[in-house]
Amino acid sequence: MTDPLLALRPWETPEVTSWRRLPMNAVDRRAGALKLDGDWRFQLLPAPDAPLADDWSSSYVPGVWTTQDTDDLPQYTNIRMPFARFPPLAPAANPTGVYERSVDVPAEWAGRRIVLQVGAAESVLLVHVDGHPVGISKDSHLAAEFDLTEAVRPGERATVRLTVVKWSDASHIEDQDQWWHGGVTRSVLLYATDQLRLADVTVRAGRYGDLRVDCQVRNADAALPAGWYVSGELDGHLLSQDGEFDRANAEDERVSDFLGEARLLTTVQDVRAWNAEEPELYDLTVRLHRADGTVADASHHRIGFRDVEIVGRDLLVNGERVYIRGVNRHDFHPLTGRTVTYGDMRADLVLLKRFGFNAVRTSHYPNDPALYDLADELGFYVVDEADIESHDHAHEIADDPRYLNAFVDRVSRMVLRDKNHPSVIVWSLGNESDYGANHDAAAGWVRRHDPTRPVQYEGAAKRGWADPELASDIACPMYAPLEDCVVHALSGEQTKPLIQCEYSHAMGNSNGTLADHWAAIESTPGLQGGFIWEFWDHGILQRVNDGRPVGRGGAGLHENGVAAPGHRWAYGGDFGEAIHDGAFIADGVVFPDRTPKPVMYEHREIAAPVRLECFRHEGVVIGNHQHFRGLDWLSAEWRLSLADGGTLTAPAELPELRPGETAAVPLPFELPEDGGEAWLTLRVTTAGDEPWAPRGTVVCVPQVRLRAAAPAGSAPAVRDASVQVDGDGLLVHPLLTSAPVLSLWRAPTDNDELGGMAVNWRAWGLDTLVRKVVDVRRADGHVTVSAEYAAAAGVIRHTQVFTPVDGGVQVEESAELPDSLTDVARVGSVFETVAGLDLMEWYGQGPWESYPDRAFGAPVGHHSVPVDELFTPYLRPQESGGRHGVRRFTLSAPDATGLTVALDEPRQVSVTRYRAQDLTSVTHHDQLVPRAGCVVHLDAAHRGLGTASCGPDTSPSYLVAPGTHRWSWTLRAL
Ligand code: GAL
Ligand code: MG
Repeated sequence: MTDPLLALRPWETPEVTSWRRLPMNAVDRRAGALKLDGDWRFQLLPAPDAPLADDWSSSYVPGVWTTQDTDDLPQYTNIRMPFARFPPLAPAANPTGVYERSVDVPAEWAGRRIVLQVGAAESVLLVHVDGHPVGISKDSHLAAEFDLTEAVRPGERATVRLTVVKWSDASHIEDQDQWWHGGVTRSVLLYATDQLRLADVTVRAGRYGDLRVDCQVRNADAALPAGWYVSGELDGHLLSQDGEFDRANAEDERVSDFLGEARLLTTVQDVRAWNAEEPELYDLTVRLHRADGTVADASHHRIGFRDVEIVGRDLLVNGERVYIRGVNRHDFHPLTGRTVTYGDMRADLVLLKRFGFNAVRTSHYPNDPALYDLADELGFYVVDEADIESHDHAHEIADDPRYLNAFVDRVSRMVLRDKNHPSVIVWSLGNESDYGANHDAAAGWVRRHDPTRPVQYEGAAKRGWADPELASDIACPMYAPLEDCVVHALSGEQTKPLIQCEYSHAMGNSNGTLADHWAAIESTPGLQGGFIWEFWDHGILQRVNDGRPVGRGGAGLHENGVAAPGHRWAYGGDFGEAIHDGAFIADGVVFPDRTPKPVMYEHREIAAPVRLECFRHEGVVIGNHQHFRGLDWLSAEWRLSLADGGTLTAPAELPELRPGETAAVPLPFELPEDGGEAWLTLRVTTAGDEPWAPRGTVVCVPQVRLRAAAPAGSAPAVRDASVQVDGDGLLVHPLLTSAPVLSLWRAPTDNDELGGMAVNWRAWGLDTLVRKVVDVRRADGHVTVSAEYAAAAGVIRHTQVFTPVDGGVQVEESAELPDSLTDVARVGSVFETVAGLDLMEWYGQGPWESYPDRAFGAPVGHHSVPVDELFTPYLRPQESGGRHGVRRFTLSAPDATGLTVALDEPRQVSVTRYRAQDLTSVTHHDQLVPRAGCVVHLDAAHRGLGTASCGPDTSPSYLVAPGTHRWSWTLRAL
């Protein structure tokens, strides 16, 4: 092994990651660079020291080879390392991708300094030019730059080789919960600078307009020439000329022969401060001049004027205690695995903005530079996280001096790169790596280098939310029970802002109690929000026949969250991985193609900028719940939903309200005297085009109840009609293919499975209840059927009283659950209808899926959805498609025949094409075979969803208790 790069032993390399790698800086080099993206010659070797073959295939850069038709396929593990070697060792079998291409170095670069920038490669990057070693880098999610001035000749062709080794000592600190891939995942650039150049630019811009720009200047490896100076231009004003900027020049500012420093200082009058609601940006260009005034180098920045500080236990942005409505976001793409484009990132942030999010944690590594540009521009608070997670060996590594340099290197390089982004308000030292001296070393570096932002680290905060000695300025737990947060905030002991770095785990049908969290956050000083786990369901689009990833060509092979026939969303194990963690990778608020899951609508409403506080005699009280903005960017329309009379609309005029203010406006409708329950909804949309939403985009639909339902009288029995039941006491009805029976079970959600509830339900026999009719009595036109359901946990008595009513039948039911059934999924009826009833119309909450503990964002009204679209296609089939608070519904065929069901009170209802058993008998959505008829559940009680797959279960008020449950409903033909 002659290659000096490979001769480095793995545990030595953390200390020499900068072997000819250039220091990180914030100078933007994207403009004028030569992009080397595209197809590169490629071969995949079994190990870094394996001989190269003569045959080359090709691989697209940026991209991962794991989705580009190689035999090294994606593998998903959560905590476990995919190989059994202790840190810092790597396995002998070590896929190594060799990428090669020739580059014509522009002749006009003669005499200039030439730099290669590899945007990101995982995990080890070795660079050779024309066969000569150039440098090595680790740190998979930050760029590595190498000076090629000596290695290439302008006007000639050079061969650039990037060797990417999958496993190394660094893999042990890149053990994040996600797919393992290998490849060059961000763009590769070649650029030239003058020998005299900007080495770094640091911008500090405060909310009152104070601007300080610190420039570092270097001259290759030579001494600085005399007379150079720096000028600045802000939004088209040449500041050095009209005197606002000091012209900083060499004589005053030079600090040594090799390093020059110049500071530009000014105060911008009437500055428009930056915040996530109004992300005001200014264009700053910094120019480095030679003594004769000509420009040697320039760097462009979009800057924002804003302050971040912690005062007491509040995190303040521009003096405001802003709520952090955050999400954790991984770089993920269902076709390319890890590589994302500018368009992808923009689409992510636009969607988040439309659903009320204002913050992103870059879990768990620095993102592509474009993401921060977009966050600045669209308005997000960013917790920027370093690429350090040693989950499997956390305790060993946190204090291991062999990893010390890697920790400081990764954290400092992130800070050096991203320090000028107004969106970045907090630095994070990484994730799930225990807590040790290596963290303190990194935190120390950050505090000295950038005292303008807080530092957070969950592993440190875990040792004590209020402990001032720990490296975290923020108490940033993950999945802390809500009660613990409230207790801490009320304890008098709280010293730091409490912002959960992860909460409300979105695996499958989840995010129960999100609204309860926010009710507590908004009413408890000291609580400021958190980051939902997580944005993506990381399903990779896979061909079912050969099990291979579809790769870049697969656009169009999915729609509305569902993979096209013959394809599926792969999760852990689907690529034949021996070690994997299954569907735990499908835990986002959007499907792998970015289709929002129902929880997104819940969140949108929780984050509503405008709310209807209450309805009083003087009218409806409207509140502005933003931190900085008025209501002038919004339009609205009133909707009055009457239980018995459809929906009325009226134009709405939003009052002028500053943040935090409320005002009463007169009720826009005359309430009809009779007519029962009435709800008033304000449909709020964007009044003009926002950068993230065209005019007319729905922002929220807050609602207030104007009048409660009149107590339901029981339906009058019709004397001369009768109800038919068969010999088993089962209702016979021409529209039903299966009569209503008792149901106590749902297809376990991921929360039910991982939280341990589903195990109990199976042990209790709730999935296999055996019904036995005990007694059928007819009296007065009523038929009373008593039945018993035998389960392992005991006998459940169930009674149905059928009474003929005008056009149908009334069913009054009761079920007695023995005390042993402490926590069941549901108590209710299930029946099945004939085929052809393909439209559901209902009055109740909707239109999207909702459950008892995830129903805040589903307004009451008249809704209509095709039956096939009621079901949410969670990657691993589970309970899905429920609608909360349903008062009545119809299921109809195109010829308007069908049935209607009226419920005694608002109930949880689901209408799908699947029995619960259908859902549990398969592992992927594509395996489901829809039934022709409808499977209808009417629930007297339905358990909340909670988030027990990782974190707290639902709260006790959403559990279904033993004892007697009663419900009644009428079924009529249309
Ligand atoms: C957290 C972790 C995340 C993810 C999540 C569960 O503990 O930080 O990376 O694993 O749990 O989905
Ligand atoms: Mg982890």
